[in-house]
Amino acid sequence: MLKSIQLKQENERIAQKNNKRENKPFGDAAGPDGLTPERDRLLQQLKERQQELELLDITFDNIQSSEGFKSLHLSTNHSVNYINAKTDIGCEELSGMKAVDFLGSGYTKTVLKAELPQGLFVALKSVNHQGTDMRLCMDEFQDSQGCHELVSFKLRKEIVLLQRLQHPNIVELKGQCQDSALVGGITAVLEQGMPLQMIQLLQSPWEERFRVCLGLVRLLQYLTHSPLGSVALLDFQPRQFVMVSGELKLTDLDDASIQEPACQEDSDCLLQFPLRNFTLRCSPSRICEGLNEMRNLYNAYRYFLTYLLPHQSPPLLKPLIHQIMNSTGDLKQSINETLAAFEEVLHTYKSGLHLENFPPSITRDYAVLKGVRSVGNMEYRCRLSYNQQGCVLSVHSAREAVLICNSHPQCTSFSLSSERTWTGRLLASFRSGFSHLVPDVNSAVYMRRVKASGAVL
Ligand SMILES: Nc1ncnc2c1ncn2[C@@H]1O[C@H](COP(=O)(O)OP(=O)(O)O)[C@@H](O)[C@H]1O
Ligand SMILES: [Mg+2]
Repeated sequence: MLKSIQLKQENERIAQKNNKRENKPFGDAAGPDGLTPERDRLLQQLKERQQELELLDITFDNIQSSEGFKSLHLSTNHSVNYINAKTDIGCEELSGMKAVDFLGSGYTKTVLKAELPQGLFVALKSVNHQGTDMRLCMDEFQDSQGCHELVSFKLRKEIVLLQRLQHPNIVELKGQCQDSALVGGITAVLEQGMPLQMIQLLQSPWEERFRVCLGLVRLLQYLTHSPLGSVALLDFQPRQFVMVSGELKLTDLDDASIQEPACQEDSDCLLQFPLRNFTLRCSPSRICEGLNEMRNLYNAYRYFLTYLLPHQSPPLLKPLIHQIMNSTGDLKQSINETLAAFEEVLHTYKSGLHLENFPPSITRDYAVLKGVRSVGNMEYRCRLSYNQQGCVLSVHSAREAVLICNSHPQCTSFSLSSERTWTGRLLASFRSGFSHLVPDVNSAVYMRRVKASGAVL
């Protein structure tokens, strides 16, 4: 059911609280002398979060200048002042926006769907007042204003990271609003996606699952060589990603780390996972160099690749896929090498090179009728179909469609339309029969020739 939630009311409530806070720093928990140990600890944590934000700015500026980039953004002391050309939705636009649906929530944040005046939808992220982060903070400090501020730092950090890290596999930041009486609290405006449904993805065509894995590997390659240095995703789980038009996008960045651990010897560079441990080299500069890269890569392997990549992969791509699985599972290759292997799979798949062993003559068993489409179809269902009711699969060419039709006992014909998948492959629709044909310039129908006995060959 579509629930209409008035964002403003909630935000006004927070704004009122924030106004109160100005008179009484850190709220009710502070004792008469204002120096309780809890308050000190809370202050300390707030200071650390502020420093973390500033470090992001310093690192960014250092890397940009050392790499010869001319920084367009001169704000260094307060990262939230950073203005991004793309972030054009501000407090004013947000104050009139209505949330129309709930998209999800986690330990830290709540995400609502809202409609822009032009009819476009966006995702609004704000602090989750019922979340674990807020609850743990309240248990410790009993200070709602201070805790709100502390948890808000995570969203502020995420906004800074979204401004610095821009990639097709990271959700786009479309705007933000901080500390405005109009809206209250802090809100990030993001492109809207759909929460990642692993079960649904497992049932989708290999090509779509491969797209998700490729997007992930491209993202990790970018994170390794990002404008902030090598970035590790400490909380790496499918729920930190969303899908936008078939493409995987990272949305939860507040647990990203730009630091690599300091070390004295190799044994300090231990990378631990529930089922495997790895030890990396301690570099001459006494840093576990490459640890972020390897952590991300192994997490990609254990949460995504193992489930999505090998299952029902095209037979002639299996050796390449097998190699990728082996090298990522043992962390034998860098992210650059892994990406190169993925791009090779993509290239082979797109070019149809993996079909070369099959002679073109196999299409002779089919009569081709171009410029028509079939009507009154008798559909049958097949595994990993693009369409739940019938059997729609992607093919490189008519030759691959023939191979598939030959391998399905129910198949007597198939049609190819001009519709293509993200890799540019054709969508073929297989069926067991049809009643008649009608003209359609964008379609061709291939019918299996029938033997004199009437049996399909
Ligand atoms: N851009 C978005 N579009 C749709 N849903 C989203 C978007 N961003 C996040 N979500 C959903 O909201 C949930 C919580 O967001 P997230 O940033 O992961 O918060 P937390 O830091 O609390 O885990 C996510 O698990 C996801 O399902
Ligand atoms: Mg999350």
